[in-house]
Amino acid sequence: EKGGWSSFMAKEISEEPDAIANTLLGRVVDGDVVLPELDPIQAALDDVDRIIIVACGTAAYSGILGKYALEKWAGVPTEVELSHEFRYRDPVLTSRTLVISISQSGETMDTLMAVKYAGERGANTLSICNTQGATIARESDAALFTHAGPEVAVASTKAFVAQVTALYLVALKLGIARGTLEPGVVAGHLEQLLALPGKLSQVLETGSQIRELARGMSDTRSVLFLGRNVGYPIALEGALKLKELAYIHAEGFAAGELKHGPIALIEPGQRVFVVVPSPRDSDSLHRKVVSNIQEIRARGAFVIAIAEEGDVAVLPYADDVLRIPLAGPMFEPLLAVAPLQIFAMELAAAKGLDVDQPRNLAKSVTVE
Ligand code: M6R
Repeated sequence: EKGGWSSFMAKEISEEPDAIANTLLGRVVDGDVVLPELDPIQAALDDVDRIIIVACGTAAYSGILGKYALEKWAGVPTEVELSHEFRYRDPVLTSRTLVISISQSGETMDTLMAVKYAGERGANTLSICNTQGATIARESDAALFTHAGPEVAVASTKAFVAQVTALYLVALKLGIARGTLEPGVVAGHLEQLLALPGKLSQVLETGSQIRELARGMSDTRSVLFLGRNVGYPIALEGALKLKELAYIHAEGFAAGELKHGPIALIEPGQRVFVVVPSPRDSDSLHRKVVSNIQEIRARGAFVIAIAEEGDVAVLPYADDVLRIPLAGPMFEPLLAVAPLQIFAMELAAAKGLDVDQPRNLAKSVTVE
């Protein structure tokens, strides 16, 4: 039940801190990552030389963050592929390949078929699902469940943050096992993970600022989203949310692509959300994105920056700034996504649309 919330989506966004906390529950113990669910594929994990993540929609965007973590922390070459593309192009699979599928429902037909295909061709399969007993989990060699609780709204929200949390746990576990992470670094990352629910609750308190922003934009016909590095999948997700909920043309780009084409779209009044990288992670990346903001601003764009608290470099150029608490570069995407989810929801509500049940969409896509 909606329990006082205006929509299931609003309720489910409010449950995001719990979705992360519950997905971590019992899995971080004495500075270690404990995932007995991976036992059935332990031998394969010890030997893995490549990971392919398969998923659709929002789950595929969580997969991009999983890729960054798996490569950065565990040093395993990782690709992300849309499930429906994967099995139609003769992918190279060996007994040393691990195929990780991600699915909230665990029933998405495209992803299920990709998992079956991978298994039949000798790869090892791990699924990350949010629904106990789901078909994809049953069809996989091992299954790791996210504990976001049932997600009713068609737009995926709390499942996304839970998926990223689960992927980060897998990446940390592999990094520990493979010796690619120093114990001190592991401790720091685990601390950041455990602190996320509290910080995300702070982000959710800024909901009224985002509602005001959305209400002022209900006549907008096109919105662009830019992000770089871990901000890139967040830009893609922000655009997907806006398309599916508010029926507004939206596109997410890697900020570095701007000069390779998309900047031609910028005309006076074009709304652009920019997910700004942490200045503490990579000074040069931060500077590059701030310079992207200057470039589009100079062409008349209306810029809404999502930036870390204390990042003053964006202030002279952004028309609006949505703040997120400091969380360490890899963890900030988990805080930056909520403002974009709320924005799409509020804009859809301002247009009088059904937030939970957008037109033409089903919660779980069980046909190919
Ligand atoms: O149940 P799944 O995670 O497999 O669903 C995948 C996509 O269909 C899903 O994420 C879809 O993109 C959502 N409507 C996005 O909000």
